[in-house]
Amino acid sequence: MDRNEIRIHIAAWDERGSKVYREYLVPIDGEMNVLNALEYVHIHLDPSVSYQVSCRRGVCGACLMTIDGKKRLACETEVKDGMKIDPFSDGGNNA
Ligand code: FES
Repeated sequence: MDRNEIRIHIAAWDERGSKVYREYLVPIDGEMNVLNALEYVHIHLDPSVSYQVSCRRGVCGACLMTIDGKKRLACETEVKDGMKIDPFSDGGNNA
């Protein structure tokens, strides 16, 4: 089986309340969306990573977040190596 790993960077807050990006290695086979990558991280690597999800089909908007500085639906966005993932309300620009 040809299996690859990508690195994603997820916003978190340290003990002083400053935003940091935590890096996670996620195995992928073919195409995978950001929501699936977040689920992998939550289940296998870091249960503190949280997100909202409902329809999983790009309809409800529950998974809206900031991905590489743009507002996108996690269930409709293909995950790529090096992506930065922030909460929607943060906009990805605050340090
Ligand atoms: S989970 Fe509903 S739009 Fe992504």
